[in-house]
Amino acid sequence: MAQTLVNGQDLTNLDISDRGLLYGDGFFTTIRVRDGKAEHWLLHAERIRLSAEKLHFPELDIDQIKADIEQLIAKQKNDGAIRLTITRGSGVRGYKPPANPDISRIVSWSNISSDKLSAVETGVALALCDTHDSYNPALAGVKHLNRLPQVLASNEIPDECFDGIMLVGQHIIGGSKTNIYFYQDGLWLTPEMDSAGVDGTVRRWLLSTQRNVKATKFGLEVLHDAQYCMVSNALYGMIPVTKIMQHRYDISPDIATLQQQYRDSALIE
Ligand SMILES: Cc1ncc(COP(=O)(O)O)c(C=O)c1O
Repeated sequence: MAQTLVNGQDLTNLDISDRGLLYGDGFFTTIRVRDGKAEHWLLHAERIRLSAEKLHFPELDIDQIKADIEQLIAKQKNDGAIRLTITRGSGVRGYKPPANPDISRIVSWSNISSDKLSAVETGVALALCDTHDSYNPALAGVKHLNRLPQVLASNEIPDECFDGIMLVGQHIIGGSKTNIYFYQDGLWLTPEMDSAGVDGTVRRWLLSTQRNVKATKFGLEVLHDAQYCMVSNALYGMIPVTKIMQHRYDISPDIATLQQQYRDSALIE
């Protein structure tokens, strides 16, 4: 059963001079697949377009990318996740991008572990990572392939924690694999993505559909001040956080409704 398509072909290998491998010159997105459908495709398509624009890639053929994804999903029996990776392909050695890059499209399949899915109801604990994310307004928000801060941070997270909080300077930027939200004075506060971080698809959905979700800057004082906390990513949607070090949080009564609304709108195109 095909688990990977490279440029639409049933392959698992890539040219060793691909710029994604040499320089991290590319970006990716991870999509939840349920009942044979890619959830929230429009949010992913929008992020693919924005990422390509921000990294000065040529305009991508989104229909072709969607066709790759559907081709791979059609070969699967279960629910799971698709990772789409787009790189600037191979070319002459050196950082300077080729004028007309031959883009690589890699679509790969993975299953999702069911024990983690129950966390969506019961809540999770988070750690605080010493490793900071990198400050770079030019890359802020893009899910680009340079993930070394997250690689180092993930090594600091103990097994009993679902994720770890990362900072940029004095400000919280998110989890190592999630966006984060703290509920305070009637608002869900989530970090601004103007200097670092990944502008996640679930975060975009929350900011565009919920009036009480606000992007702003805040530091670690929020751990003490907040009433509730949650994290999000496309695999799990919104996940309540019940513990961060010595801080404990109840599960917000809003989360079940948000999770339901998010699921109900997953297949709107
Ligand atoms: C660093 C980071 N932030 C945020 C997210 C959430 O993004 P999305 O909601 O698109 O899954 C991810 C997802 O993997 C991530 O790796």
